[in-house]
Amino acid sequence: MTTAVPPNRILLEDPAPLLRWLDGKPGAIDLDQVDVSEIWGLVALATLGRHEHPALSAEPTRGVTGASRFAHALGFHEVIEGSPPIEPAEPARTVKLSRLRDFAAIEPAASKISRLVIADDPFEDTRRAVGYVLVELLRNVLQHSQDPLGAVVAAQVGAHSGRSWVQVAVGDAGIGIFEALRGMHPSLDSARAALERALWPHLSGAFEQGMTGSPTQSNAGLGLFFISEIAKLERGKLVIASRGATLLLEGGEEPEQHTFRFLEPEGLGFPGTLVAFEMPLGEVADYGRLMETIQARAKERQPKRNVHRWFTFATPPVDLRPFLVSYTSENTQAASEFSARELEPRLFRRESVALDFRNIDICTQSYLHALLYAALRVAWARQVPIYVVNAAPAVRSGLEFLESYALGG
Ligand SMILES: Nc1ncnc2c1ncn2[C@@H]1O[C@H](COP(=O)(O)OP(=O)(O)O)[C@@H](O)[C@H]1O
Ligand SMILES: [Mg+2]
Repeated sequence: MTTAVPPNRILLEDPAPLLRWLDGKPGAIDLDQVDVSEIWGLVALATLGRHEHPALSAEPTRGVTGASRFAHALGFHEVIEGSPPIEPAEPARTVKLSRLRDFAAIEPAASKISRLVIADDPFEDTRRAVGYVLVELLRNVLQHSQDPLGAVVAAQVGAHSGRSWVQVAVGDAGIGIFEALRGMHPSLDSARAALERALWPHLSGAFEQGMTGSPTQSNAGLGLFFISEIAKLERGKLVIASRGATLLLEGGEEPEQHTFRFLEPEGLGFPGTLVAFEMPLGEVADYGRLMETIQARAKERQPKRNVHRWFTFATPPVDLRPFLVSYTSENTQAASEFSARELEPRLFRRESVALDFRNIDICTQSYLHALLYAALRVAWARQVPIYVVNAAPAVRSGLEFLESYALGG
């Protein structure tokens, strides 16, 4: 399987050559031997080339090829040497490589990167979807990879076959998805099975007998499911390469027409986890509707049951001061702590609470889960209302989706 020379072209259309070359334990990469590379290739190489973790040594680029000039413009060597700030390389086209290892920085970083790469307001709905994908991927690295150096991330807008697309990539050199999932799913017996499982919505039925039996309080298992559904619904492309397996999912004209395959040979993966996501620019016509569609598709996979409605979308009594949710925005750790400290004890004492969702830019399902799964169950058990104000339509439908699996029964 060893190949001595790096691939000439690093394109998401055909990710196998780079992955195979990396698999051959090459030791060094000289980008002056590569003609073209898309952003995911630079993220992959920079993830492995970080000087604190040199799985790969990167030669200084001489600018002989397109790929080496691109790497230079994207701050390839800066990110290998340290943690440069998030900046555009070329505004509205490329965002430089950067690193991230702090939970509180996830939402600001995702929102900045998506704004820099998609500057045009007509593409706002695509930009929000890209922000969503970035939040979930960055969070996965910090929550699951055990890579002490955190994530490498970058973004690019490009064009081929007469169509513009946006591509983002997030990499880590951590334990991989198989290892991370095995704790909860001891019967998983291969990296491919683990990757496939990682895309399921982890609602209660998805947990193995004898394991937790319901989604855990802090993790809904919805991150990769949402991302893969966005790819299916919006003609996107998703590549997940993790230790021992690589999957490639491509959306078709209709969601049912998507294709899904593992790259050959079996065992081909990435020394860590690398996720690349791409979709046509301007593809998302209505972000809120997209989220609702995905929530509905997740519900279809749940056993049919009675859903209880518990959130009260109405003005709370005057003496009840709403908590401002933006205070823990997209920091799932902070959200669970906030719930345990402020929400659950009050609800347990049968005091109602109110939440104000104003100014929430990106609101992932995983975040709503961390903030409210446990609180909602306490509220239901104690029969106390949770008031919700200023929730945008996508937030409201996300809360209703949470009710459907937290209170179904
Ligand atoms: N970068 C990563 N490194 C290691 N494991 C990962 C990574 N990303 C995802 N996983 C694994 O895939 C599972 C599914 O991820 P996700 O759908 O985002 O759900 P959640 O993060 O809520 O568990 C995670 O629980 C974890 O086991
Ligand atoms: Mg996740």
